[in-house]
Amino acid sequence: MDRIPILDIQNLSVSFSQYVDMFRKNDLQVIKDLNLKLFEGEVVAVVGASGSGKSLLAHAILGILPYNASFSGRMSYCGEPLTQMRIEQLRGKEIVLVPQSVSYLDPLMKVGFQIRKSVNDKRSKEKMLQTLNRYGLGEEVEKLYPFELSGGMARRVLISTAVMDSPRLVIADEPTPGIHIDAAKQVLGHFRKIADDGAAVLIITHDLELAIEAADRVVVFYAGMTLEEAQASDFSDESKLSHPYTRALWRAMPQNGFRAIESIKEADL
Ligand SMILES: Nc1ncnc2c1ncn2[C@@H]1O[C@H](COP(=O)(O)OP(=O)(O)OP(=O)(O)O)[C@@H](O)[C@H]1O
Ligand SMILES: [Mg+2]
Repeated sequence: MDRIPILDIQNLSVSFSQYVDMFRKNDLQVIKDLNLKLFEGEVVAVVGASGSGKSLLAHAILGILPYNASFSGRMSYCGEPLTQMRIEQLRGKEIVLVPQSVSYLDPLMKVGFQIRKSVNDKRSKEKMLQTLNRYGLGEEVEKLYPFELSGGMARRVLISTAVMDSPRLVIADEPTPGIHIDAAKQVLGHFRKIADDGAAVLIITHDLELAIEAADRVVVFYAGMTLEEAQASDFSDESKLSHPYTRALWRAMPQNGFRAIESIKEADL
């Protein structure tokens, strides 16, 4: 029998409706006909340049698209349609987002309270301390306000907040910028562990090197389209990559010669 994916996205398109002037509206399609499956135990990376629609993909999955966005296509979670009502029930529990911006932390609330989601019993306190510890943060962090954290600490707090309740699907939007490379590798190791424990993890990043290091599969995204989906191991050999854009990204990596990306022709897409 076929395995049921934790997340199955079919033909997802997202577009924005914007006023060009007082009377005319324009539709801008930012995600085009995207298909993606995520299975239990898997870490999948979506790699794309800035503005390619990565955060919108995360927000579409979580049902938090901006008011002027509309979407079409189908999403299912563990075999059942992921409706707006269902995502609202699951969000923050089984399906979590590690947001791109640390401004998602409430500036007026102490960190410990945010991680515990305002639950104040002994069990959740213990669990929170364990989680902080897992991400290399001391107990004292609990009593700090977000402005007292360094950028790297704030990011680890965001991750701790997301994974406190053993989620089944983790969407991490640029989870490691501003973190020292060793700490970044440690964080990626934690995502691997979360997947090994039975979840599916989607890492969204502009960093191909990080994607290859962290993921089992890499989806290359360009202007809202999937250009290529490859096993992370395929990136050890350029000839295994099929799309010119993926090959250009590969060649631009320091270990592969640091060659500049030539212009991508419309015909290549
Ligand atoms: N509310 C909005 N109204 C109109 N256009 C928007 C809106 N939000 C995002 N966009 C556009 O959608 C495109 C994709 O945005 P998105 O935030 O998903 O990019 P991204 O790949 O996450 O980029 P980055 O790597 O910089 O985070 C961008 O061109 C952006 O300008
Ligand atoms: Mg983004």
